[in-house]
Amino acid sequence: MIPRKAGRSETAHAAVQGIGGPFALMSHKGELVTEATLRGRPFLVFFGFTHCPVVCPTTLFDVTDLLKELGPDADRLQALFVTVDPERDTSEVLAEYMRSFDERILALRGTAVETDAAVRAYGAEYRKVPLGSDSYTVDHTATVYVMDHAGRLATTLDMHEPRETRLAKLRRIAGPQP
Ligand code: NI
Repeated sequence: MIPRKAGRSETAHAAVQGIGGPFALMSHKGELVTEATLRGRPFLVFFGFTHCPVVCPTTLFDVTDLLKELGPDADRLQALFVTVDPERDTSEVLAEYMRSFDERILALRGTAVETDAAVRAYGAEYRKVPLGSDSYTVDHTATVYVMDHAGRLATTLDMHEPRETRLAKLRRIAGPQP
């Protein structure tokens, strides 16, 4: 028997070690995307929902702009937008919504349980907030996580930093590796 430290589960240990981990979600193009299907490829991942008034569309337009500016290097990167509102964001809603952005960005959706697992894997958070009696909005972590080819956190994008800084971060991760 290998002795274990009391009070620390495997899950807690993984969370301490870092951001990123197992997830399994369907893309709006009908493909299953997991940490394993992304192995060997750097990727961006961020959480949101299509009813988001400002932050999500701004982030998606920004990523669209950065991918365009990256040119051919962008093909080495996978950008992922994970909905935290699978109830309203059906596959059809996501497919329609994504028409406004770079076609290489995949919108991902899972059940509530699968969504929570993905959110937890990235140390992100979201919270449903009622708007009157029959509607709601969702507060959510707006960080764009930049993951390397091995699925490790390389950096994050901050929409308040200069565009050149964000571009340099993506070039570093998606550019030809030495
Ligand atoms: Ni949002």
